[in-house]
Amino acid sequence: MAVEDSTSERVTKFMGHVKLHIPGPVAVSEKTFRAFCSPMIGHRGQGFKDLYAKIQPQLQALFCTKQLVFLSTSSAWGVMEGAIRNLVSKRVLNCMCGAFSDKWLDVSKRCGKQAEALQVPWGDPIPATLIHNETSTGVMSPLAEIAALKRKYPEVMFIVDSVSSLSATKIECDTLGIDVLLAGTQKALALPPGMAVFACSPAALVKAATMKDRGYYFDFVEFQKNAEQQMTPSTPSIGHVFALASKLEDIFNEGLDARYTRHARLAQMTRDWAARHGFTLFPQQGCESVTLTCVNNGARQGGRVVDVVKLQKLVKDQGYLIDGGYGKIKGTTFRISNMGDESEVTMNQLYAALDAAMKSL
Ligand SMILES: Cc1ncc(COP(=O)(O)O)c(C=O)c1O
Repeated sequence: MAVEDSTSERVTKFMGHVKLHIPGPVAVSEKTFRAFCSPMIGHRGQGFKDLYAKIQPQLQALFCTKQLVFLSTSSAWGVMEGAIRNLVSKRVLNCMCGAFSDKWLDVSKRCGKQAEALQVPWGDPIPATLIHNETSTGVMSPLAEIAALKRKYPEVMFIVDSVSSLSATKIECDTLGIDVLLAGTQKALALPPGMAVFACSPAALVKAATMKDRGYYFDFVEFQKNAEQQMTPSTPSIGHVFALASKLEDIFNEGLDARYTRHARLAQMTRDWAARHGFTLFPQQGCESVTLTCVNNGARQGGRVVDVVKLQKLVKDQGYLIDGGYGKIKGTTFRISNMGDESEVTMNQLYAALDAAMKSL
């Protein structure tokens, strides 16, 4: 008997897990997983520099930026906290319309900043926001409109979390005047969790250089200095960088516009599934996310209400995991993700499992 499984056996077992349709982490393709398992290289050697140099222009195209895109071995929260430490001298306005934006206020306070809350009811789009796609509520805020407002205040740093939207819809970092644009890897990019990608405007880097207590691990100036030499400040998760290179190859083979259209189409298919079963949606009409659907299940008036835990179990028994709602709308909403590599075929398989589950409820 072999002591260790071969890579292909491990991949087969890995792919046999319950398929994730929660809003991150999402299913990782066999190709990505193989790249993730590439033999290790040194992070100060030419091999790594070549790898980073190869993906840099692709990342810049994805971010719609001329700035260098940085790789952080942390989940998104590392860079979200880093942005506060690098760019906020004293006060910060945290615009909140869901669980992740609510949390950012708390993080700002924990960093010792005078954080102020602009609170609107969960699920409503707001005139200024930091979170582009609120994963907890399935709301995608109108970034272009918010950016237009921000342009009137050029001294204000504009920090945008695109954790669950980057690569699923176009975000024009430079044109919109975004100072920090960041995303995690385990959502629309469909990589394993554990890495974040981000870009900073020249103004953000100038500001960061003046900040005394910005620390080291998330020092944006260090990221810039190292990225200029195709490196990261500290030892990165090299497996993630291989996986990212593989995913970027997929993304550009598909084409960015085709990828954006696919996400929009699949999200619409899930909305149609919900409507067919008598559900309404949690987000207001017109601001629904293109990467996940947050189905109303009693949080708002109207529409059908079901036992979410039972629904989840019935779907899981058929090999799929959907999410039962997040934070204060847990149970009164449920969420279905179409992020990453999903297609009409794979989403129809999920809807068939959901249809069967609905019959057994
Ligand atoms: C919009 C948004 N921001 C931030 C985060 C935090 O990401 P992480 O837990 O990977 O740091 C999440 C995670 O779900 C998210 O959806």
